[in-house]
Amino acid sequence: MVYDDKPASTFKYAEQPVYTTSNGCPVENPEEFQRIGSNGPLLLQDFHLIDLLAHFDRERIPERVVHAKGAGAYGEFEVTHDITDICSVDMLKEVGKKTPAVVRFSTVGGEKGSPDTARDPRGFSVKFYTDEGNWDWVYNNTPVFFLRDPTKFPLFIHTQKRNPQTNLKDATMFWDYLSTHQEAIHQVMHLFSDRGTPYSYRHMNGYSGHTHKFVKPDGTFNYVQIHLKTDQGSKTFTNEEAGKLAGENPDWNTQDLFEAIQNGDYPSWTVYVQVLSPEQAEKFRWNIFDLTKVWPQKEVPLRPFGKLTLNKNVENYFAEIEQVAFSPSHLVPGVEPSADPVLQSRLFSYPDTHRHRLGVNYQQIPVNAPLRAFNPFHRDGLMAVNGNYGANPNYPSSYRKLTYKPAKATNQHEKWAGAAVSYLSEVTDEDFVQANGLWEVLGKQPGQQDNYVNNVAGHLSAAKEDTRRRTYDMFKRVNKTLGTRIEEETEKLAPAPKSTAAGSATSRL
Ligand code: NDP
Ligand code: HEM
Repeated sequence: MVYDDKPASTFKYAEQPVYTTSNGCPVENPEEFQRIGSNGPLLLQDFHLIDLLAHFDRERIPERVVHAKGAGAYGEFEVTHDITDICSVDMLKEVGKKTPAVVRFSTVGGEKGSPDTARDPRGFSVKFYTDEGNWDWVYNNTPVFFLRDPTKFPLFIHTQKRNPQTNLKDATMFWDYLSTHQEAIHQVMHLFSDRGTPYSYRHMNGYSGHTHKFVKPDGTFNYVQIHLKTDQGSKTFTNEEAGKLAGENPDWNTQDLFEAIQNGDYPSWTVYVQVLSPEQAEKFRWNIFDLTKVWPQKEVPLRPFGKLTLNKNVENYFAEIEQVAFSPSHLVPGVEPSADPVLQSRLFSYPDTHRHRLGVNYQQIPVNAPLRAFNPFHRDGLMAVNGNYGANPNYPSSYRKLTYKPAKATNQHEKWAGAAVSYLSEVTDEDFVQANGLWEVLGKQPGQQDNYVNNVAGHLSAAKEDTRRRTYDMFKRVNKTLGTRIEEETEKLAPAPKSTAAGSATSRL
């Protein structure tokens, strides 16, 4: 495929730049190397060859431990409705205000080369370059998640990746985890609906999932959840279409996004907020710090406030998308995390992984650098490329005073006190109510319940029998008909039990 637009870097240099080694020494022919005679060994003095090979040997950095496969682009956010009654975030202060952004979409479980159309949640990350720092939204395309106890995240992710012995994806591991951690059921309902295989990144929504706080300077605040609804309309693949494309064009979503933007067909999302006052939250049926639950829209309506539009492709994928580093802890004045323990854990995990994946100075990489940052107390470290704050004092010096943000009032309402406990949530019947709500939503859309049953059956049929049985019971707790239909369809597809007679394949295990 050929794209007409010349990359901008072409214009930054002379039309025919002189090719050099990495230290800038002009080179005659990039393909020549130094050896003794025409058939002898190489010379250590051949810096050009060693420079080339040594750099090549170091081209790969660790891929993201989750969300490794992704695509992204630049865009802008525009405030469309006034929400200053509930919000003091600078970027949202004025209708019409525009803020530049970079966005990365991703699948979750697969490796960097895995197919875009895999059944998986999709990541929806946005970095806003605001006048008061970078504000990252590290969201998914589903409003809930598989867990509410953060310790379970690495354990759960392991079961969605590869079996440690076979190095294969493993349906038994997958369903064994889910059927023994049934708080995941609401997310499983989302994952196996056709929204688990979106047609493209342009045709899916994004959800904060977690509760955050919009905090005013006087310390008052509201709890909020943010939704980005696609203006392209929600569009999905069937299981069969997604499976076929995984083989034919594993980069389908990457290509779709790049080409749409290249053709001027800019995708956009209308952005909404759900708002609960602390008093409302206390009386709310659902625990607002439980990531497996939504706030029903009939009770907590969506309030529009902005539009996100993607309008520019990156010039270099590695520099701008592979190296982009999002974190739920990259916040700005006026927004704070809630006490949701999964969110609290994520505040730690992302900058931690960035330091591993990109290095301690990852915020200096151009795509990550805020519009303005002044932190001369962060010094040195690998790849300090921003001048390292020159002669500025590296401590709060009396001789070079800094300006500090005015203190905000202490948050009203939230006052935490209690014994330190070891905690693990329990699964109750309440965990199945919203899952059934989604089953009913699917019932209003022709064919969607049938697709749901087939999507589960195709996957679950590869799991061991006792895991399958436990999973049917889980779905029956959502809805008897759903569970029974999944059982019938899955058992039609499941392999017949192997003979245990001596000499059969199983006897070797
Ligand atoms: P409503 O009954 O008021 O509306 C249903 C919502 O379901 C829609 O707004 C739409 O959200 C979403 N939806 C529609 N089709 C599908 C689908 N095929 N797969 C997944 N989601 C779909 O919603 P409630 O708030 O009372 O929730 C009912 C169920 O809808 C919940 O159990 C939840 O699973 C699901 N849902 C709820 C959301 C929320 O934040 N309250 C958000 C998304 C889903 P959208 O417009 O965002 O596409
Ligand atoms: C990526 C950890 C839950 C959305 C990542 C990465 C880690 C991680 C380590 C790789 C980041 C990188 O290399 O840059 C965790 C942990 C979680 C958790 C420990 C729970 C305790 C969630 C939830 C969501 C989410 C609940 C969505 C609501 C994302 C997204 C990315 C990501 C979108 C990709 C970011 C990008 O595009 O670079 N997560 N995660 N994660 N996570 Fe999570």
